[in-house]
Amino acid sequence: MYFCPLFLIDFALTEGSTITPLCPKGYFPCGNLTQCLPRAFHCDGVDDCGNGADEENCGDTSGWATLFGTVHGDANNVALTQECFLNQYPQRCDCKGTELECINAGLKSVPTVSSNVTLLSLKKNSIHSLSDKVFIKYTELKKIFLQHNCIRHISRKAFFGLHNLQILYLNHNCITTLRPGVFKDLHHLTWLILDDNPITRISQRLFTGLNSLFFLSMVNNYLEALPKHMCAQMPQLNWMDLEGNGIKYLTNSTFLSCNSLTVLFLPRNQIDFVPEKTFSSLKNLGELDLSSNMIMELPPHIFKDLKLLQKLNLSSNPLLYLHKNQFESLKQLQSLDLERIEIPSINTQMFQPMKNLSHIYFKNFRYCSYASHVRICMPLTDGISSFEDLLANNILRIFVWVIAFITCFGNLFVIGMRSFIKAENMTHATSIKILCCADCLMGVYLFFVGFFDLKYRGQYQKYALLWMESLQCRLLGFLAMLSTEVSVLLLTYLTLEKFLAVVFPFSNIRPGKRQTSVILIGIWIVGFLIAVIPFWKEDYFGNFYGKNGVCFPLYYDQTEDIGSKGYSLGIFLGVNSLAFLTIVFSYTIMFCSIQKTALQTSEVRNNTGREAAVANRFFFIVFSDAICWIPVFVITILSLFRVEIPETITSWVVIFFLPVNSALNPILYTLTTSFFKDKSKQLLSTSIVWADDPSSLKLGVLNKIDLKENIVKPAS
Ligand SMILES: *[C@@H]1O[C@H](CO)[C@@H](O)[C@H](O)[C@H]1NC(C)=O
Ligand SMILES: *[C@@H]1O[C@H](CO)[C@@H](O)[C@H](O)[C@H]1NC(C)=O
Ligand SMILES: *[C@@H]1O[C@H](CO)[C@@H](O)[C@H](O)[C@H]1NC(C)=O
Ligand SMILES: *[C@@H]1O[C@H](CO)[C@@H](O)[C@H](O)[C@H]1NC(C)=O
Ligand SMILES: *[C@@H]1O[C@H](CO)[C@@H](O)[C@H](O)[C@H]1NC(C)=O
Repeated sequence: MYFCPLFLIDFALTEGSTITPLCPKGYFPCGNLTQCLPRAFHCDGVDDCGNGADEENCGDTSGWATLFGTVHGDANNVALTQECFLNQYPQRCDCKGTELECINAGLKSVPTVSSNVTLLSLKKNSIHSLSDKVFIKYTELKKIFLQHNCIRHISRKAFFGLHNLQILYLNHNCITTLRPGVFKDLHHLTWLILDDNPITRISQRLFTGLNSLFFLSMVNNYLEALPKHMCAQMPQLNWMDLEGNGIKYLTNSTFLSCNSLTVLFLPRNQIDFVPEKTFSSLKNLGELDLSSNMIMELPPHIFKDLKLLQKLNLSSNPLLYLHKNQFESLKQLQSLDLERIEIPSINTQMFQPMKNLSHIYFKNFRYCSYASHVRICMPLTDGISSFEDLLANNILRIFVWVIAFITCFGNLFVIGMRSFIKAENMTHATSIKILCCADCLMGVYLFFVGFFDLKYRGQYQKYALLWMESLQCRLLGFLAMLSTEVSVLLLTYLTLEKFLAVVFPFSNIRPGKRQTSVILIGIWIVGFLIAVIPFWKEDYFGNFYGKNGVCFPLYYDQTEDIGSKGYSLGIFLGVNSLAFLTIVFSYTIMFCSIQKTALQTSEVRNNTGREAAVANRFFFIVFSDAICWIPVFVITILSLFRVEIPETITSWVVIFFLPVNSALNPILYTLTTSFFKDKSKQLLSTSIVWADDPSSLKLGVLNKIDLKENIVKPAS
């Protein structure tokens, strides 16, 4: 199963084991074995390595999941003793040591218990209000759990005297207001859990006195703004959960001096702007969750000071732009969630500095190719190509070979024949031979597509990204592009040449041998440049050719690099459609011109057959060009209007329509021309050098002068 493409020179060091074998880009080691496997073989539920290493470390445990153990390891200690040390407590409660649990006990108020109680759990009762000084006797209390009570009213003095309280759970209640000073005495509070309360008003002075609050959770409230300098009041605040509030903005002083903060959850808020310095105090932050907000833009250095950040969640934000070095300083980051975010500016350098990244989540499967050093990239597939092969069905698989064969050998045959038969008009023959060379490349391209389809048969899905990224794919795309562009330009040239000969038969504006060579060389150079330019600037064009399995840059998804999108539009809709229109236009004029001449000539009546032949041939030339290019135009225009084009359609177009020209050109321009027919007949009988009529330009297709001669001497 070891597969090491020659082209991968860029080796990446991969983390995860003590011995770190060097794996090629996009490949990851099998634990301590020297074997490497492509990303798609890891965490797919199949033991591909043999030692199970590819199925290990698959879950994303970075961020709070690991931080919780290190920071709050002692937070949930259970009482070791079964004995009860409390003298007084309601019957329906459970007592262990000095801890008392009265869960679902139907209590309507805080019960009277011994004063040395340390933990009081009153979950799921019917306590609707907390009156003044209700806990004042219980100075030893460290933890209070009051969730699911539908507490509506909390008196301002309810928590007075709880100087030792560390943990306070008030979530899932009906609290609507928290009065200023309500937490005044809670100097040792470390956790404050307030989620799922319809709190509408939170006073700026609410947090006064929470000097060592450790854990603050306020989920699903309606909090538009956070108090200024929250951490001035709670310098030890370590864990802050503000999920689902209506927080609209953060300022650069919101988290000022929150030096101890390790986890900050802000998902499902209305934050639309985050100033550059917002997080600059959070030197110890390990996890930051900003998902499901309204953030449109992030300042480039927003994460600059988060040197210890392990997990960052930015998913579901309408982000329009990510800066190139947005994540530059997040050296410790292990998990980055960018789901549902379009990243038009995506490039490899964006993710390269995050050497420790092990999980990355994208909107689009294709983005994964920009983070090939990350072992786990989601989504695993693009959803469309759920099939396991490069070419989705049998018809494509068979016809790729058939068409490759026809294209390649048809053109080779013509090149051979044309070299064998000496034509008087050498320049024209050369042009045709060169056209055949260009068309032949298309056949070569198709052969390779067929070959790689065979090679990845049954497991293409796993190699898909690597394949599209690979140099082979890019070279194939280059070949196809070179072939189509040279072919298009040559056809246009041949058409124009013919056009001049037919429409202006007696003028002398015809290219000589020298000019023809210059033009032909020029066409190849232009074709080569068109095909090679996308290699020139990676960050502008992205991976121009590797957009799909057949490596032909036919369509674009919405988020493409502007460079490559514009380029392919320019080529397919600009150059090619111009060429196509030129060809259609020229043949129309030529046909009209021939018809006019024919009508002017007296003995024309018996030439209708000839004329029909000309019309037929012209029609087929234009028709084959149309078959070849109209699907391409349509797809390009559709993708311009943001229509999703399945990869299967691309394969069909590339295998059935694109090569139409290349496969038919030998027939249209050589095998069915009268010149060639005559020539072959002669060749069969004698081997005399055929004397071409010097006045005839032998433009492959029957031309006007042929026609005239025939009209004049119909008997021949
Ligand atoms: C790899 O690690 C396993 C245990 O995890 C060990 O049994 C094995 O010997 C190691 N192999 C090598 C080549 O170090
Ligand atoms: C708690 O107080 C009661 C008296 O109210 C006493 O009997 C008991 O020993 C005390 N327990 C502890 C652990 O101090
Ligand atoms: C916060 O940002 C404002 C401008 O938005 C700036 O004037 C101010 O100096 C910044 N404060 C800090 C502490 O960086
Ligand atoms: C990021 O946040 C979204 C929504 O809040 C959540 O569904 C997703 O699981 C989070 N990602 C990670 C990696 O935890
Ligand atoms: C990557 O993470 C490991 C622990 O998982 C840590 O020891 C190492 O220093 C980190 N690497 C970088 C470049 O920060």
